[in-house]
Amino acid sequence: MEKYVIQGGKPLRGTVEISGAKNAAVAIIPAAIMVRGVCRLENLPQISDTDTLLHTLTYMGAKVNMINPSTVELDCTHVQMDVLPEDMWVRTRKIRASYYLIGAMLGRFGRARTTMPGGCNFGVRPIDQHLKGLSALGADISLSGGFINATAKNGRLTGTTVYLDKVSVGATINIMIAAATAEGRTVIENVAREPHIVDLANFLNSMGADVRGAGTDVIKIRGVKQLHGGTYALIPDQIEAGTYMAAVAAAGGAVRVANVIPKHLECISSKLREMNVEVEEGDDYVLVRRDGPLHPTNLKTKPYPGFPTDMQPQMTAVLCCAPGVSVVTEGVWNNGRFKYVGELKKMGARIEVEDQSAFLQGVDRLTGAVVRACDLRAGAAMVIAGLAARGETKIEDIVYIERGYQDIVGKFRALGADMRCVDEPDEAQADPACVSAG
Ligand code: EPU
Repeated sequence: MEKYVIQGGKPLRGTVEISGAKNAAVAIIPAAIMVRGVCRLENLPQISDTDTLLHTLTYMGAKVNMINPSTVELDCTHVQMDVLPEDMWVRTRKIRASYYLIGAMLGRFGRARTTMPGGCNFGVRPIDQHLKGLSALGADISLSGGFINATAKNGRLTGTTVYLDKVSVGATINIMIAAATAEGRTVIENVAREPHIVDLANFLNSMGADVRGAGTDVIKIRGVKQLHGGTYALIPDQIEAGTYMAAVAAAGGAVRVANVIPKHLECISSKLREMNVEVEEGDDYVLVRRDGPLHPTNLKTKPYPGFPTDMQPQMTAVLCCAPGVSVVTEGVWNNGRFKYVGELKKMGARIEVEDQSAFLQGVDRLTGAVVRACDLRAGAAMVIAGLAARGETKIEDIVYIERGYQDIVGKFRALGADMRCVDEPDEAQADPACVSAG
């Protein structure tokens, strides 16, 4: 199996270009199903999740024309439902964002059929708020045989007011997509405010929708009959950028993280500064430098503009190397999202997890080991730990990492890291807590 091999301990230097945002791409590609005409998407990340979704659209009858590796023209004028073969459903099920097909199909066809979503394996991931919102818009929803079936009464959804009981990125996006072509006005209250929510709203508006308030906690949508073609460039990936920033913090050195929106990185930058890392903001880049010892700190994840849960494992890996006591608390996922801690312990980290918090006693240096990527961000944390560690680290199950990081090996190598991808049999002792699943 393919794995990453890292000889750690080399400071990182140079410039890294950040790709388009994964979590914007996985919402915008399904939303393109609703567009009648050619929709050109620029700054798309080249990752396996976007490949899977583009394949799904191709099977549905979309014309998918890759203009260059990060630009695609999609023509969904003649897409159809009920045409996806079983093996495509197996692939689609593996990604969490397949649930956006429900909102998009309902918006386009007035009915939807898709698999129950998969995605990273860090515990129970309910979709009750998605279903509540879509039902409120007039969809009859049933679940059977691992599939979700939904039908809009009278063939078209109808605008209404939806209050989300829990701030959910996915539910906000799904309801927004479905409401874009619903009859009348939809108001969604207590919504998520992540940068990719704003990006999706901007995408929909540039295709003729009328979505207002994205980035605040109330979104108002006036439904339009149909969406038309256009061109849209996705925002850079906040979490990919944060991952490279964390890697510099852990391994030391000085890196220009380019093609970013520094405002989206503010909470990460200020946390790194508390840890004795210099972060200087430019117009579309941040300069990150760490020469001295890391300082311990505490952090708690929250919905945006709070500290992102998708940076929690990476920051935990950095704090493992900050002498002193740090506490990392997970405030978004109720299961703690700490399955990867056992893997960091294999590298000499001193961490105990209790309920929603990890208590860390920083060590001077981690030591290389054979570890596994339990999920996408946990995998990124292993890369960071490996770059900072003394000796060799092998990371298995890298398929998770490749779901969300474009050319991670090439980008770290360009910064001077000794990292390569090899194909050899797995060695890691299976940790039952770190169970890999689609
Ligand atoms: N929740 C519910 N009911 C729902 C939906 C969510 O109770 O119907 C709960 C969840 O259990 C969780 C919280 O609400 O405790 C937040 O979940 P949310 O719906 O916001 O998460 P998501 O949409 O499934 C997206 C990202 C995740 C990221 C979360 C939180 C995508 C495809 N995924 O997931 O990203 O962790 O938002 O920011 O956008 C990743 O990129 O590695 C990743 C896992």
